[in-house]
Amino acid sequence: MGSATTIAPGLTTTEASFIEEARSHGQLFIEQPYDLYSKENHQAWASLYRRITPRWERYANARFLEGIRALRLDPLRVPRLEDVNRFLCPLTGFEARAVAGYVPAFLFFDCLRNRQFPTTITIRRSDRLDYLPEPDIFHDIAGHVPMHTDPAFADTLVRFGRCAHTAAELVSGVKDESEKLRRLSSIQNALQRFFWFTIEFGLMRGEKAGELKAYGSGLMSSYGEIVHCLESPDVQRYPIQMEWVVNQHFEIDHYQPLLFVVNDFEHLFELLGQLEQWMKDGKLDNVTPGWRDMSEADVRSFLDASLNK
Ligand SMILES: [Fe+2]
Repeated sequence: MGSATTIAPGLTTTEASFIEEARSHGQLFIEQPYDLYSKENHQAWASLYRRITPRWERYANARFLEGIRALRLDPLRVPRLEDVNRFLCPLTGFEARAVAGYVPAFLFFDCLRNRQFPTTITIRRSDRLDYLPEPDIFHDIAGHVPMHTDPAFADTLVRFGRCAHTAAELVSGVKDESEKLRRLSSIQNALQRFFWFTIEFGLMRGEKAGELKAYGSGLMSSYGEIVHCLESPDVQRYPIQMEWVVNQHFEIDHYQPLLFVVNDFEHLFELLGQLEQWMKDGKLDNVTPGWRDMSEADVRSFLDASLNK
């Protein structure tokens, strides 16, 4: 028998030893080791890009399509983040920055406040293009980043970041530890639900009366769900309502049965202002508890931030 350790070639989701190594060092941002992408990785990108393009033309909102054009992504090869940023930065100041894995909630929002988007650099296997529980570079760059070219959308992300700071500040004044944790969990649930039902899975009014388009990144990066979210009679679609969204559970392992519609990105930006005001008014202190416990790393990231306030 030879060596028991085989180094997996490429930067494939859950199979990249480079990522495991970087994660073990606990760094937030890493370099994108572009030469490590294998032929199969580039093929996966090319297949994903080729098959979804006609669906973007049909189902994506106009600003997403403008963003795709502005970024000039190569349809055939995994993008280099520095190339993406060369076109993105001058438009809104946002930049995609490579990370080694999951970024705890507060840190994630704080990056947005600084116009940095934590970006996964691994890509799904080329023989499993459809189902992937983890984010990958196709989701992050082709799904999220085109909207970051839009000023109102970019400002909305920054407002999410400010909301996270406001949350940490508000709970920093609570003396009783269990009350602090309870209130923090409630606010965090509200924030994450709002992020989920807008940035990840939001719908938007189209230009024609009664027409709907998709903008959420989970929809824009899914070949199946981008159609399902707009065509299926099984999906309920409602004009967005703050009190509903902050109390609404979601599950991540199947197509979304319930989606919310914003008028445009200016509307979304205003809603974030309302969310922050509700937080300050104590209206997010008692939202419906989550079905799953929040990850300890997420809660800890907010508690640590509150200590510095
Ligand atoms: Fe996402």
